[in-house]
Formats: sequence, C-alpha cells, structure tokens
Amino acid sequence: MTSINRGFALTWLGHNSFKLVSRGAKVVLMDPWVEGNPACPKEHKAFEKIDVMTISHGHGDHMSDAVTLGKKFKPVIVCNYEIHLFLTRKGVPGTSPMNKGGTQEAAGLRFTMVHATHSSGIEDGGQVIYGGEACGYVVTLEDGTKIYHAGDTAVHADMALIGELYAPDIALLPIGDLFTMSPREAAVAARMLRPKWIVPAHYGTFPALTGTPEALREELKKQKVDAEVVALRPGETLA
Ligand code: NI
Ligand code: MN
Repeated sequence: MTSINRGFALTWLGHNSFKLVSRGAKVVLMDPWVEGNPACPKEHKAFEKIDVMTISHGHGDHMSDAVTLGKKFKPVIVCNYEIHLFLTRKGVPGTSPMNKGGTQEAAGLRFTMVHATHSSGIEDGGQVIYGGEACGYVVTLEDGTKIYHAGDTAVHADMALIGELYAPDIALLPIGDLFTMSPREAAVAARMLRPKWIVPAHYGTFPALTGTPEALREELKKQKVDAEVVALRPGETLA
C-alpha cells in the first residue's frame, strides 16, 4: 500500500486495468481485463460489486471481460457510442455512451471523456468491428480529486488542454512502448499534464512492453517534471 491519504483506494490490476474504490465506497472498474490478464493476481479477478465500468477502447486487453462483468454486476458502463452499440447487441445492460469533451455523472462521480491517439477495433468471432475512437477519462471523485486514466495512447498536444481544463492530481499513464507511449513520451505527457502523482501502466505484461518506472523517473528528470512516480505492483493499492 502506498499512502497519499485522499480517502480512496486505487488498485492496479495489471496492464491498463484499475479498480477504484471511492470515499463513498463506489467501485469503478477501468478497462475490464482480468480473467485473461496474465498480470492480474488471482484474488483480484473476483469482485463483490461494480458500480461503474469505464472502457477506453475496443481492444481485447481493455474490454474482454466487459460482457461477462457487465451482465453479472450491471454497472453503469461509460464508453463511446460504438462500444455501447456492440455491448447492447451482446445483451449487456447499463451502457451510458458519450463522446470526447463531454462529462456525465454516474454513482455520484463525474466522468469526462478526453482524447487519446490509438485505434479501437473490436475483435469478435474472427472479425474486426468498428469500435469508434480510443479515449481516456478524467474521473472526478466526491472530494474533487481528479484521476486521469489515459488508456492506450501516444503523447499528443491535447494533453496540454487536459492539464489546463482538468488539472489531474493523478495520471495513470501507459509507458510500455510498442503499442503506446514509452517512458520518454510519457515524461513529455507529464510535463503538459502536471499531475502530483503518476502511476505507470501498460508495461511488463508481456516481454515486448519494455518501459519501466525507473526509465520514466529518468525521463521526468530530463523534462524537469517533479511528479512522484508511484510504481504499484499488480494487486497493490494507492490509498
Ligand atoms: Ni489498445
Ligand atoms: Mn492495450
């Protein structure tokens, strides 16, 4: 457990999946990939409840468990319009579609959809279905704390707008390289976002995802960014 004493608990489930338990005990699952996620510890694959699920894009390593968990726990599912259509067709209740720039409230928390630079096709029975555009989310908690889940993305100049508009306290940034930013790009992202804490994600799951928190710390020094890197182990909690 890493302590910042903000009254919530944020657990890294490995890869780019996070479980957030808010001060008001609302459970948010960001990017539901636990069952087939080799980095997710066994005891974190089960849930007691899920109030809200957010989906950043259509790739399997971000939403493979959306159908199963969506049917079981009936959370509000915050996602783009195309993923909403896909999940609805699969018989999943509770989708609440939105698009970039918009904000909606769910379970007393606020979810703002922001830009990401990535793709979003949904693999289904050997076909690829159009999954809209990849995105990130800024989650505003009961006390106003803001957590930016970048999803999968390259660094992009709109991150300066995300910093200006939402001033995230915590940024969950991919650093693995190959499919997303590496530590070098993530440090430039952090320069624009100016978070107090950075939780690195989307690294180490597979050998090809080579970025490390140590490399991120080095790159942040070069960019003169003094954010604290909170390198969680899968299953570990920032609270
Ligand atoms: Ni992806
Ligand atoms: Mn991914």
